[in-house]
Amino acid sequence: MAASMHRQTWRQLMRLHSQRTATLTATARTCPRFLPVAAPARRSYSSNPNPNPNSNSNPNSGSSSSSNPPPPPPPRNSGQEVKFWPFAVLIAIASGAYVLLTRTRQEMPARPNSGASGGRGQLLPPPSNKPTPAFSPRDVTVLFVLGGPGAGKGTQCARLVSEYGFTHLSAGDLLRAEQERPGSEFGALIKDCIKNGAIVPMEVTVQLLENAMAETIRSAPKGSKSAARFLIDGFPRKMDQALKFEEVVCPAKLVLFFDCPEAEMERRLMERGKTSGRADDNAESIRKRFRTFVETSMPVVEHYEKEGRVIKVDATPTPDDVYKDTKGKLVKFLGEGF
Ligand code: C5P
Ligand code: MG
Repeated sequence: MAASMHRQTWRQLMRLHSQRTATLTATARTCPRFLPVAAPARRSYSSNPNPNPNSNSNPNSGSSSSSNPPPPPPPRNSGQEVKFWPFAVLIAIASGAYVLLTRTRQEMPARPNSGASGGRGQLLPPPSNKPTPAFSPRDVTVLFVLGGPGAGKGTQCARLVSEYGFTHLSAGDLLRAEQERPGSEFGALIKDCIKNGAIVPMEVTVQLLENAMAETIRSAPKGSKSAARFLIDGFPRKMDQALKFEEVVCPAKLVLFFDCPEAEMERRLMERGKTSGRADDNAESIRKRFRTFVETSMPVVEHYEKEGRVIKVDATPTPDDVYKDTKGKLVKFLGEGF
């Protein structure tokens, strides 16, 4: 008798248990929000993974149970509560990575800017602790080419380029290109200086030259001779340009100075002005350029003469004769085939 009562009680208990299991399953199908929110988090971080990975727990995969009345929500804090420590760890890692990234960007050297190559970037980079000068005279040869306006610097440079494979960089040409570059912050200043024969602040010109040299070297085929030899024409026109360039860009090997009387230079410039389209090839600008040359640029030539780094060439004769003289003097100074 006692044994039969015991069996009955046991059966009732089992029935109650199966009813409760069915109710919970129906709840999961009709109200997915009750289960899946906590489920994935528990799968990722729980030390007790699902013991039956093949069981179908997808709330959308079951058939509709619209005939069942909506069951009550499961009790809260019943062992399915969301754990917060994984989120705290994630936030800590993300914050650390952000701080590291910010610091790294601040320490990165300034990108070579695109001022001399026609881009829209800022010409002058922010101050940096980069080692100076940018190029070693062991790898790069720099010859400065000086002379009054109209002395024939450009003409002689073109001949040296075609015979000896130099790269010709004219400071005046780079300034005119920067003046025309859309978005240049120095366009108006350069325009004004050129018109009045005044010297553009040296930071601008030195940076343009450095950019142009870097771009030439970067884009040259490997082993190119001309990429490492520069004729820098119309520069330095003032002592501060000379000192700054040799300090931060590259020490120059020598100065090629084309010496020409003012009357001859004026005649050439007035002739050139008929077709050049230059804003400074007119009588008034020419007069100002001569004064600047005597007062500001000749002291640069004298500075280098004292150091024995000047090759002086008379630029009055015809271009052919001037070139012959130039070549002879360069060979004497630098050696055959320089
Ligand atoms: O050499 P070029 O005659 O083309 O130079 C034209 C003008 O560019 C100069 O008169 C001057 O206003 C400016 N310039 C400069 N510094 C240089 C070269 C040129 O300010 N080193
Ligand atoms: Mg020129």
